Amino acid sequence: MTLPLGVLVSGNGTNLQAILDAIEDGRLDAQLRLVLSDQAQAFALKRAEKQGVPTALVERKNFADRSSFEKKILEVLKKHGVEWVALAGFMRLLSPEFIGAYPQRIVNIHPALLPSFPGLSAIRQAFDYGSPITGVTVHFVDEGCDTGPIIAQRVVDVSPQDTLESLTEKVHHMEHELYPKVLQWIAEGRLRIEGRKVVIRK
Ligand code: GRF
Repeated sequence: MTLPLGVLVSGNGTNLQAILDAIEDGRLDAQLRLVLSDQAQAFALKRAEKQGVPTALVERKNFADRSSFEKKILEVLKKHGVEWVALAGFMRLLSPEFIGAYPQRIVNIHPALLPSFPGLSAIRQAFDYGSPITGVTVHFVDEGCDTGPIIAQRVVDVSPQDTLESLTEKVHHMEHELYPKVLQWIAEGRLRIEGRKVVIRK
């Protein structure tokens, strides 16, 4: 099935770029119906425009409360026929109401091995902690902060020579490899959630 995908972004959009590239060269069977940002200056919007993907900007400051802000996002996603949502550096927590509108159809990528180092600056958290390994997690989104059922993880070694910059580069590289892969499993209908466990059909 060609996956009718929407991507929510707030920033640079290197993960969005990895998704765009994977679609372009046939590794990901998805139609990117919309890229939506909550930040006007997000470079991710430019990446989408360059590729001819529809974009939308929905800024929190234009809404009285979170609920009307999220309602607008949902309205735009539905209008564009988005059936699965991938968060790619979208810097906001989603409410239970929002998640309920796309039940078990919202995924996120996090730059650490959850449940370690959730939240902001995860690469720095792992680096400062002195972990000999860190990595990348793709998970379903629930009401918590980076707490939803884990789909896939990849390990990144932290060497004694690593600086925060070199580690950041390694983690991002791994993200760009893993996210399109997981989205392709979704496109192939291979994921099933059993409680907190995600089963991936071979
Ligand atoms: C990534 O590290 C992602 O894991 C996290 O936010 C960052 C977004 O980077 N959720 P980019 O905008 O995709 O370059």
